[in-house]
Amino acid sequence: MAEGMTKKDGYDFVVVANRLAVNRVTEEDGSTGWQRSPGGLVTALAPLMAASDGAWVGWHGAPDETLEPFDHEDMHLVPVPLSAQEVEDYYEGFSNGTLWPLYHDVIARPDFHRHWFEAYRRVNRRFAENAAAVAAHGSVVWVQDYQLQLVPAMLRELRPDVKIGFFNHIPFPPPGLFAQLPWRHSVLRGLLGADLIGFQRGSDATNFQRAVHNRLGYYVDEDRIHVPTETRAHDEGSPLAGFDADADRGTAARQEAAPDTGSARMVEAKSFPISIDTETITELAQREDIIARAAEIRRELGSPETVLLGVDRLDYTKGIRHRMKAFEELLQEKKLTVGEACLVQVASPSREGVESYQLLKEEIEQTVGRVNGEFDTMGHTAIRYLHHSYPMEEMVALYLAADVMLVTALRDGMNLVAKEYVAARQGDDGVLVLSEFTGAADELRQALLINPHDIDELKAAIVKAVKMDSEDARGRMEVLRRQVVSHNVKRWAREFLDHLEEL
Ligand code: F6P
Repeated sequence: MAEGMTKKDGYDFVVVANRLAVNRVTEEDGSTGWQRSPGGLVTALAPLMAASDGAWVGWHGAPDETLEPFDHEDMHLVPVPLSAQEVEDYYEGFSNGTLWPLYHDVIARPDFHRHWFEAYRRVNRRFAENAAAVAAHGSVVWVQDYQLQLVPAMLRELRPDVKIGFFNHIPFPPPGLFAQLPWRHSVLRGLLGADLIGFQRGSDATNFQRAVHNRLGYYVDEDRIHVPTETRAHDEGSPLAGFDADADRGTAARQEAAPDTGSARMVEAKSFPISIDTETITELAQREDIIARAAEIRRELGSPETVLLGVDRLDYTKGIRHRMKAFEELLQEKKLTVGEACLVQVASPSREGVESYQLLKEEIEQTVGRVNGEFDTMGHTAIRYLHHSYPMEEMVALYLAADVMLVTALRDGMNLVAKEYVAARQGDDGVLVLSEFTGAADELRQALLINPHDIDELKAAIVKAVKMDSEDARGRMEVLRRQVVSHNVKRWAREFLDHLEEL
């Protein structure tokens, strides 16, 4: 049992995620404490943790620091230490320099380094060991996201008694792209240690099933994958063999047309589109101080007729450049003018140790400088660029202030910003321009759906959104809001966990 564990037999519900569910905060007197993270995942899972003896295993965000497990607001927190070198190799390297670009359509070039994967494997094992140490007999362990794809199989090896779920928050790439990964078999075998593997879109689940069938030759029957439990001569080893350094090399895929006659474990892989905490956003959007702040934001921008808004982590997958290019061309062609329209771009700092993110930041800042230099007037700016993170109160005020929301991601697992904007539009007004390459586009069909690579189409959609008559906008937003409000993040968590329990 892990040190600091307060329960006798362990915890009935364990979440394993790269980041812990709390952030460290410094109080006014200089002392430090912990505050629950504001994200939707934590909001959805915290009540479940409180109701069912929950523990959360994750990295606390500081390198080279080992912390004892502790309790915070009905949650048992198990901080997993990472050395500075592991942050470089596991987090910035393999997770965000290899997997992230590979899983997002190779928008940036993925780098493949053996020592990065070694660190990924080592850190994944540490997460699995920490989860194994706190999980009660027969408990449910839910592993989150691409940073921890080897954890399910490692955990199954350590704790065959627990039920294991995995949810991939980002896209799963088509088999042709996934095939580039030198450690593709290890990753597939790692994931197949789970009983249920959730994806954002149906197409992600299909991509995964096809990769499993093509690479490992396992029989796939709709969403169910038959994972052989016996080692056979033609396998590269047991289902766990992929964790040996050489197991990925020189393995030909076996193509099977029918289920294997040997014993098999069933693993289900299907989509569970994630959502947001709609209650909190709805409450904030009705608060008078936040409504007043929205009006103030418009005044601070020089009261333009139309406020266009982009809210993203500063990430090359988000299509921020495409959005700015479209806006710049519309200004050049005088289809929009600065007094008429202002683009507010919130770009929250992200993964600043990764080179591709540093290059993107420079490029975006140059573009903003160029566009504003050419089009700003004394009273108005073309692009108000904010390289900050804001509390949810300010974000909701921005959503209320914006007539048009621009979500132009080149590839995105879901895009929760699109859903947040919709949830905040209490008056059923406002227009959402949404990339068809986001998971959200599967559900938000009444948005103006665009291909962000097609700058002319994007420009036409922006003009259409700016000029849309209020009846059309209202009709669309009403349907969008109904969809988002009825599918909140709590429902997502419940559906996933209920399904896992049933398996
Ligand atoms: O979208 C994937 C994701 O890992 C989210 O879960 C997270 O909020 C975001 O990317 C930021 O990631 P990081 O932990 O690298 O800052």
